[in-house]
Amino acid sequence: MSEKESNAKIKITKNGPYLVSGNIPIHEKIIIPHGHTYKLIEGRKLPQAENYALCRCGHSKNPPFCDGSHLIEHFNGKETASREPYSDRSELLEGPGVDLLDDGRCAFARFCHRENGTTWDYVLNSDSEEAIQEAIQAANECPSGRLTAITKKGELSEPHYDPEINIVQDPEKGVSAGIFVRGKIPIESEDGAIYEIRNRIVLCRCGHSRNKPFCDASHVPFGFSDGHVPE
Ligand code: FES
Repeated sequence: MSEKESNAKIKITKNGPYLVSGNIPIHEKIIIPHGHTYKLIEGRKLPQAENYALCRCGHSKNPPFCDGSHLIEHFNGKETASREPYSDRSELLEGPGVDLLDDGRCAFARFCHRENGTTWDYVLNSDSEEAIQEAIQAANECPSGRLTAITKKGELSEPHYDPEINIVQDPEKGVSAGIFVRGKIPIESEDGAIYEIRNRIVLCRCGHSRNKPFCDASHVPFGFSDGHVPE
């Protein structure tokens, strides 16, 4: 593990921001349609720093960074997500050529929508090498880590990511999406416990998730915008 990885951490504060430390690169990314699926493109340039505080209440006037508005808005940031490991929370879907773990944590990023169906369709029809590879890629691209492909040898497929934080905009839905966290960055609860370390996770930044600190797609029905959703 590199020094960068070993220092990287996200600390959740009580009813306040995420404190990010360890020189983790931060980018804005935009979800755009790409054929029948989606891709992320670069958005605005964001300032880089060794340490920074990211808004999780949805009220900052300087998004994605915290400006103290959570104190005025009396943000209730209580963490409600299960702390059971992914493998225990997930259901297994078996296909002929590849299997799929699914923990149901959807951030509505829609990368599971593919040219000829969804990730689940590809898994259920994985009777060719091409379909197997498509199913694996579709699962790998799920930013929330909800979906994980398992080969018939029992190996969990996971792309390599360096530690990175992406502040995401979703202009197709007219909303600002969550914080896509990549690269096995430890996330520490307000109470000091470390959540299971995952390669892909989406954190809530609209303040409305019922599964805090993780995104549950509430930014869509609540119409959350940080003021930087591209036209
Ligand atoms: S968490 Fe501080 S302004 Fe939102």
